[in-house]
Amino acid sequence: MKAIVHHEYGSPDVLKLEEVQKPTPADNEVLVKVHAVSLNRSDWEGLTGKPLYARIGGLIRPNNKIPGSDIAGTVEAVGKDVRQFKPGDEVFGLMLNYGGGFAEYACKSERALALKPAGMTFEEAAAIPQVAFIALQGIREKGQVQPGQKVLINGAGGGAGTFAIQLAKLAGAEVTGVDNAEKLELMRSLGADHVIDYAKEDFTKNGKQYDLILDVIAHRSVFAYQRALAPNGTYFFVGGSVAILFQVLFLGSLIRRITGKNIKLLSVQTDSKDLVYITELIESGKVLTVVDKRYPLSEAAEALRHLGEGHAKGKIVITVEPDNKS
Ligand SMILES: NC(=O)c1ccc[n+]([C@@H]2O[C@H](COP(=O)([O-])OP(=O)(O)OC[C@H]3O[C@@H](n4cnc5c(N)ncnc54)[C@H](OP(=O)(O)O)[C@@H]3O)[C@@H](O)[C@H]2O)c1
Repeated sequence: MKAIVHHEYGSPDVLKLEEVQKPTPADNEVLVKVHAVSLNRSDWEGLTGKPLYARIGGLIRPNNKIPGSDIAGTVEAVGKDVRQFKPGDEVFGLMLNYGGGFAEYACKSERALALKPAGMTFEEAAAIPQVAFIALQGIREKGQVQPGQKVLINGAGGGAGTFAIQLAKLAGAEVTGVDNAEKLELMRSLGADHVIDYAKEDFTKNGKQYDLILDVIAHRSVFAYQRALAPNGTYFFVGGSVAILFQVLFLGSLIRRITGKNIKLLSVQTDSKDLVYITELIESGKVLTVVDKRYPLSEAAEALRHLGEGHAKGKIVITVEPDNKS
């Protein structure tokens, strides 16, 4: 089969379209013919090898040679222990190892898959999984946002942020979105009550405090974050610099004991019930999927460059085959 492969870390120039072995499903796996795959910052991190946590499993060379974690497609074959799916089903979900999706076929555990609603295109479905897991768990399941709370999302104009704004508004929160100037209007259109251009204002220095901060792109010290938290507030590190991750892991509990404020890592779990829940919200029109641009598989390098250079407003989707929504 055809796949986009990289044998070294680097810029999108190291990506090549190659013929590789078609995967065979293990007993608990489903073989999916991929129709669409969406891009995530984790693909950029896995390509460039930065931050350092992107090299887990492959310090010098990538272990995961095929990027792409969020796929939508048609089940071609199933392992003998698979109960929920059969050949011909239209499905979508997240690759548990965050790779393997930039290809004509991918093997996935059935645990991270859900049936694609008939009225949703493969492209729309592929734009959902990873960012929806982050937003749902950050805002709803672990964040437990309540009406009237003040929520700040750092990196709110990206994949996870655009879902997180909408979920926080649905929960009745007052929402502040932080991102670059090009994305302020997008954040407002999704319901953000306040927007901050990160190049112009540091939200940890403006004297305001928040009950929940969801940070997909952390690069400030934990002391700055605790200053921006209201009493008993919670800060979630989702992604960002490794130095800040270590601060969160090693100083978070100390800060909690001294100030009562929670500084934590959001460790995102993959659960198909989250896919079903978010899909219902999308189908009922309560949450919008923001798809910025579409590219064919052969132009995956350009697609990743668009994301990595900071131009993406919402999600970028690669179409592996023409969308054949029935
Ligand atoms: N914790 C877990 O279990 C887990 C699981 C999966 C993924 N992740 C991580 O979650 C993150 C996912 O984020 P995503 O997919 O939503 O990324 P994304 O789509 O790239 O969005 C990030 C947004 O942040 C903006 N940004 C850049 N610098 C900023 C700054 N200094 N201040 C505020 N915003 C800034 C970016 O804008 P520009 O255009 O200006 O760059 C972009 O709009 C990744 O780091 C991934 O590794 C974590």
